[in-house]
Amino acid sequence: MIYQIHFSPTRTTAGIVNRIASVFDVSDQASLMQEIQPVAFKKTDTVVVGMPVFAGRIPALAKQRLMTVKGDQTPAIAVVVYGNRAYEDALLELKETLEQNGFRVIAAGAFIARHSLFPAVAADRPDRDDFKVIDDFAARCVEKIKNKDFSSVSVPGKKPYKEALPIPLYPSVSDACISCLKCVEVCPVQAISQENPKETDFSKCISCAACVHVCPVHARCFKGEMYEKAQQLIIPKCATYLKPEIFL
Ligand SMILES: Cc1cc2nc3c(=O)[nH]c(=O)nc-3n(C[C@H](O)[C@H](O)[C@H](O)COP(=O)(O)O)c2cc1C
Ligand code: SF4
Ligand code: SF4
Repeated sequence: MIYQIHFSPTRTTAGIVNRIASVFDVSDQASLMQEIQPVAFKKTDTVVVGMPVFAGRIPALAKQRLMTVKGDQTPAIAVVVYGNRAYEDALLELKETLEQNGFRVIAAGAFIARHSLFPAVAADRPDRDDFKVIDDFAARCVEKIKNKDFSSVSVPGKKPYKEALPIPLYPSVSDACISCLKCVEVCPVQAISQENPKETDFSKCISCAACVHVCPVHARCFKGEMYEKAQQLIIPKCATYLKPEIFL
């Protein structure tokens, strides 16, 4: 049995984790988009844990929620998904967080997906070549576990980690809103008012883009002068096609 655990505001991380887990016989899953009950895994379990990269780190909230998941030298596959800029210290941070909580990271990967804040970046990722690498990675993970090879892997990243900087970009809401409350349900920090979903508490918002992604009428989006400036900077910076990296 393999357990999938992910934090995935715009669902690309969940999709990749799910694809890896689907190679194993049976799987179950937990989303860190909500608080979860503490859970402890056995030596004989396997977990695949996926996080998006936020400013070169794993999202602080997701890390905090992951701390309630414990292992007993349980094999883990660590996955970060990023928007073709860079993953910097995120994979190392995920690996070390898992190890501090009793897991043994036997495989790791950094994969590319559409940039959730600037969707013009890596718009068609993961593509066919990415899926080939993901599928090969999953098959090699199965093989490694079958062979009882629980050796841990080294991954890139620096210590101390890069400073975790909040991104000062917040979603706007237009009059197209039909008050369906889908954004309220999906927001990982309850920043959107249930009474008036056009109201967002920016002091809580972590700019994850989940609400923008889920809105069925595209009433939510990132816009404004600061956003446009950031977009103009990031699009050319991320123009080079980066390839996924796997560590086994
Ligand atoms: C707040 C924020 C910060 C981000 N920072 C980075 C980054 O440092 N490097 C990068 O390549 N992509 C970055 N991205 C893009 C995401 O890592 C990428 O789109 C990922 O696929 C999102 O995963 P999800 O679909 O599971 O939410 C960032 C996205 C957001 C919302
Ligand atoms: S309001 Fe902020 S934290 Fe909540 S889903 Fe939207 S972007 Fe994410
Ligand atoms: S998901 Fe869109 S339409 Fe539904 S309440 Fe939120 S902003 Fe309004």
